[in-house]
Amino acid sequence: MTGQQAKSERDLTPRCVSESRVTVSMLMNPEHANVLGNVHGGVIMKLVDEAGGLAAMRHARSPVVTVAIDSMTFEKPIYVGNFVFLTAELTYTGRTSMEVRVEVTAENPLTSESVFTNLAYLVFVAIDDQGRPQPVPPLCLETPEQGLRFEQAQERQIERKKQQQREQTLEEFSLANGQLDRTKSGQD
Ligand SMILES: CC(C)(COP(=O)(O)OP(=O)(O)OC[C@H]1O[C@@H](n2cnc3c(N)ncnc32)[C@H](O)[C@@H]1OP(=O)(O)O)[C@@H](O)C(=O)NCCC(=O)NCCS
Repeated sequence: MTGQQAKSERDLTPRCVSESRVTVSMLMNPEHANVLGNVHGGVIMKLVDEAGGLAAMRHARSPVVTVAIDSMTFEKPIYVGNFVFLTAELTYTGRTSMEVRVEVTAENPLTSESVFTNLAYLVFVAIDDQGRPQPVPPLCLETPEQGLRFEQAQERQIERKKQQQREQTLEEFSLANGQLDRTKSGQD
């Protein structure tokens, strides 16, 4: 089957938020600790990216890549021995992009006490077998809360585009003033 055929046969009927929602869990072991003995923030970021990517893949039924992690909070520390739960659900779909909200909680399995530790929003893009962006099914919203999340996600996506434009302006300014020469990077 050619890539073109596979593309035309993809099912792009709308899919609901609950159809791709996913919860993954993992026990935090000593190898996940930082020098303070808490779980390293980078470990949590990786798990967040994986959980978010899984929800995006389930929605798009396609490979996805991360294009933005522009918001991640660290509300409480996570300790070695905690059982971590990451719940990821779609908040927004564009033509080829999807925003995913990931909530993290940490449970002490000895006491069953559970605390909310992290919240992150990530953007993934569905890609075809050539690595090019490809369309994703629209998101069907099942509750008023999901509707509000979609509206807020749209605003964040507009802000991300503005930020991209600001970076572009800065890069052009630096190039024009000889302060940035990307042609030399990696050649020394
Ligand atoms: C993802 C990638 C293929 C997109 O390519 P591109 O040339 O920027 O494609 P487009 O400009 O058509 O953008 C595709 C979509 O991504 C969105 N997008 C691109 N950059 C974005 C950003 N920084 N923040 C939010 N959305 C972004 C666009 O708005 C567009 O969404 P839409 O189709 O829903 O409107 C390319 O940027 C890439 O390969 N990035 C590297 C990804 C990666 O390696 N991730 C880490 C490992 S998974």
